[in-house]
Amino acid sequence: MDNDRLQKLLASMTLKEKFGQLSQITGELYVGQIDEEMLETGPAYPRHILDEETIYTIGSVIGASGAETTNRIQAEYLQRSRLKIPLLFMHDAIHGYRTIFPIPLGLSCSWDEQLVQRVAEETASELRAAGIHVNFSPMTDLVRDARWGRVMESFGEDHLLSGNLGRAMIRGYQKILRDGRIAPDGVAACLKHFAAYGAGIAGKDYNAVDMSMREFFEFYGKPYEIALQERPKFVMSSFNTFNGVPVTASSEILKEILRGQYGFEDLVISDWGAVTELQRHRVARDGKEAAELALGAGVDIEMVSTHYLEHFEAIVKERPELLEDVDTAVMKVLRLKNELGLFENPYADEANEDEVILNPISLDLAEEAGMRSCVLLKNENEMLPLRPEHRNIVLVGPFARTRELLGNWACKGRFRDAVSLEDGIKQADGSLSVDAFGTLEACPKDVLDRCDYIVVAIGEYWEQSGEGHSSVKLELEEEQKQLVRAVKETGRPYACVCFSGRPLALQDIVDDMPALLWCWYPGTRAGSAVAKLLTGQSTPAGKLTMSFPRVSAQTPIYYNEYSTGRPANASSYSSRYQDCDIGPLFAFGHGLSYAQATYSDFAISSSRITETEDLKVTFQINNPSHYEYREIVILYIEDVVSRTVRPVREMKAYRVVPVPAYGSASVEMSISLEDLTYLDADLRKTVEPGEFRVYVNDLEHPIFTFEY
Ligand code: BGC
Repeated sequence: MDNDRLQKLLASMTLKEKFGQLSQITGELYVGQIDEEMLETGPAYPRHILDEETIYTIGSVIGASGAETTNRIQAEYLQRSRLKIPLLFMHDAIHGYRTIFPIPLGLSCSWDEQLVQRVAEETASELRAAGIHVNFSPMTDLVRDARWGRVMESFGEDHLLSGNLGRAMIRGYQKILRDGRIAPDGVAACLKHFAAYGAGIAGKDYNAVDMSMREFFEFYGKPYEIALQERPKFVMSSFNTFNGVPVTASSEILKEILRGQYGFEDLVISDWGAVTELQRHRVARDGKEAAELALGAGVDIEMVSTHYLEHFEAIVKERPELLEDVDTAVMKVLRLKNELGLFENPYADEANEDEVILNPISLDLAEEAGMRSCVLLKNENEMLPLRPEHRNIVLVGPFARTRELLGNWACKGRFRDAVSLEDGIKQADGSLSVDAFGTLEACPKDVLDRCDYIVVAIGEYWEQSGEGHSSVKLELEEEQKQLVRAVKETGRPYACVCFSGRPLALQDIVDDMPALLWCWYPGTRAGSAVAKLLTGQSTPAGKLTMSFPRVSAQTPIYYNEYSTGRPANASSYSSRYQDCDIGPLFAFGHGLSYAQATYSDFAISSSRITETEDLKVTFQINNPSHYEYREIVILYIEDVVSRTVRPVREMKAYRVVPVPAYGSASVEMSISLEDLTYLDADLRKTVEPGEFRVYVNDLEHPIFTFEY
């Protein structure tokens, strides 16, 4: 449809039909209950005004999926609606639709934008085949507090990495063609949750956020700012209040910052029920006031609650100036539907769906991504991988046999499609004898006597992280610690593999874990991915993107904290805990590999940076092993003296470097003047002359200094 026809369509719409396009509801209203096909991700709210006529003005549906289901809803809708504007279907495929990839926090430990993009591309293909047009992903909320259950959906604590991975995901979902349109197997991306949702006080979900604008622009806002450069079609406003104002009602956040400063031009959608929740925040007396506040603040589409449709007449009567915004927003919805080709063909191809869902390419990618997400946190005496003499393996623990390895927000993932650790190890090496048990007591004595290696599979269950799943206890459950100690008692060589949706606090058990492979939630191919690492067919090479606290009460903890006047030392009057070391148990950027590469030939192009010339840091990675893998290299700087206090370290560049077996790789990383800028106390971009230190991988020991 050309622009003229879209304009004519807009002109032919009643005000109610326009507000319909700006409203989103769940799908069962059209075709009755659709159980398995529905994803409910929030509380049910009353929808008083959804009479027969009104529901056929609605613009989009959340949570229904599957080609047959979405087609049924679409057909029913198109038959009865006056203008026959097709519905958009939106969903949350956070780490895959049916083929489930590692949770985003796991994926981020690969540090690999290309991998993340490929994951998003496969997810988009499955979504589109299942009739979905918009994905509520990626989430680039910066996270520093592992108590928050949603850290699993994030890319960790660094703003640069989070922004770049978010960007890669958007690129992968939208598959923008040369003519600027979304590809037929792409979906519109929705960047969320704007803004600073990850900074909820005390790690409580949906909680208030209170921070200086400097903190926002330098850290929490950055990942969105970076990801927005990829032009997602949607941004979701967040549930939280920001400095006292709910974001859903904040024109400062949604208009001045998002649209004004960050230049976002497309659609803002509320989070689930967030418009009606303005009453619970007690900033709106009733539904009408809530709708007026949200619309006025720049929320284009109301998700799930229906106050826009209930009160639009009164609102536009009182505030006629909003009509222009309404027309602009409706036009954007129509344009998107047009761009997706829905006016020509509003239906998904049911025959195609089976071919696309769980296709071999996606599954192989799930395995690769699963491997690349794992982080080897400890490996004393090279306990991993298994050696040729380890033939009789006992696999023990609550995660030994389960297929529940998809993680939360697994969309349409099915446990039955997933590979358990037991099956994964058996498939990875058919010559191994593998006996798997939930507990050590269940293992018969003769099996234990003849075993020569024990793999302990432990962790946090998938339902323990995710939305609404904040925790104050990040320690492993007592039974699992006992299991680790009992395994140690057997005197057999052993290693621990741990699944979780967040960093856990392991101080009281880590000494009993000679080797520890952190697997997050790897997804559909979990068992195969982890088995390839355990058996040494591939090496773990992931690096942490979130610091691990020693004990729960050490949260929030993150690498780029500000310098203090009294750094931790033996004195009582220093920034320390009297009962715990100050640093993390495992730091941001930590991660071992079997390759044990060494670095050499460090050089810097100059000891002085200028406006016109970037600095080049170069070095060699030497791989003495037979593993061909990708080494993650991270470069930090330290601003030695500046008028505004700077973080102790700031990550400025990273690379994922392919390293051949028994070979080496040369690496070049640059530092530009832009990397040295920061916002001063008046929020002015500044770069100060002085000395800077450069660190590579290691947060403690600088390798160069330079000056500006
Ligand atoms: C979550 C969003 C999600 C939405 C729709 C909300 O509860 O905060 O991340 O996209 O539900 O499912």
